[in-house]
Amino acid sequence: MMREDSLLSPALESDEEISLRPRNLEEFVGQPRVKERLRISLEASIQEGRPLDHILFSGPPGLGKTTLAGIMAAEKGVAFRITSGPALDRPGDLAAILSNLQPQDIFFIDEIHRLPRAVEEVLYPAMEDFQLDVVLGKGPTAQSIRIDLPRFTLIGATTRKGKVTAPLRDRFGIEEKLDYYQPADLARIIRRSARILEVEIGAEAAELISSRSRQTPRIANRLLARVRDYAVARASGVIDAGVAEEALAVFEVDGLGLDKVDRSILEVIVTKFGGGPVGLSTLSIAVGEEPETVEDAYEPFLLQSGLIKRTPRGRVATAHTYSHLGIDPPSDPQGSLL
Ligand SMILES: Nc1ncnc2c1ncn2[C@@H]1O[C@H](COP(=O)(O)OP(=O)(O)OP(=O)(O)O)[C@@H](O)[C@H]1O
Ligand SMILES: [Mg+2]
Repeated sequence: MMREDSLLSPALESDEEISLRPRNLEEFVGQPRVKERLRISLEASIQEGRPLDHILFSGPPGLGKTTLAGIMAAEKGVAFRITSGPALDRPGDLAAILSNLQPQDIFFIDEIHRLPRAVEEVLYPAMEDFQLDVVLGKGPTAQSIRIDLPRFTLIGATTRKGKVTAPLRDRFGIEEKLDYYQPADLARIIRRSARILEVEIGAEAAELISSRSRQTPRIANRLLARVRDYAVARASGVIDAGVAEEALAVFEVDGLGLDKVDRSILEVIVTKFGGGPVGLSTLSIAVGEEPETVEDAYEPFLLQSGLIKRTPRGRVATAHTYSHLGIDPPSDPQGSLL
């Protein structure tokens, strides 16, 4: 469960955010290598009139996995059927969806690492041979029958590639990992979104917001929307650098783009646990989040920015953590562990 005020939560997606979602590869900013490879697969499958290979997208939240899956369906001109691992709790649900697909349709499973094992096992022959084994009845009279499925494409998305089982991973022909975005790409996303939201924004302001967006398009769009609110309510409606700076201060987004939860993770490690190491479950309880949320949604960016380190005994603060929080590091870091 994501907390309600999390800037990362996909569950909070508003109509406005949906309108910002790129609809084709051309509009999808950044990730040039991923895009090029996907374009090649698309063109080949269209030329030969066959379904796309199954694709697995991985990477931290908000980088565009769901968006790209939808784009693949749109570019291919096929239906896009969407569900998620935890929602598919019975093999029968999966059977019902698969047998209703048209050839080449794209079936998207979000959070595919959370698929129940029994459902996953039904998926193997479906992905590989486009066949479904269905058991009719129970006990000694039970019968197993095979159903032929349309040749569909499965796209899976996961924030935890390591948690996708090996047999499932092996059945994807294409695997793409999305990376954090470059500042220039995020600034482009912000300017594009501002055009869609019909708000005027200066180049400097777009850069400022992009530098606070944790290299993540979803956060960039959410910050832009909040800065727009501030510009409308407290200024002339135009976003210049000064307005953006004031708005980000009001919304408590700091110089690195960390939000309250990120900061509280760092503060807990430093002030409650003397810089660590602190285990994931203890840390999660201390910040009031689910361990999975801390690990999947918050830690990747903190790790990548060098604000925490993971050790076998738990999470530890770094020199950067102390300087970012404006706290003096302990003079003897080893001594602080005693
Ligand atoms: N490359 C991009 N160019 C423009 N906008 C983007 C891009 N990637 C993502 N976005 C924007 O960010 C939002 C979040 O992207 P998306 O929902 O696809 O992320 P996700 O990787 O599926 O996240 P989660 O793991 O939380 O499901 C989208 O609504 C879209 O507006
Ligand atoms: Mg998604």
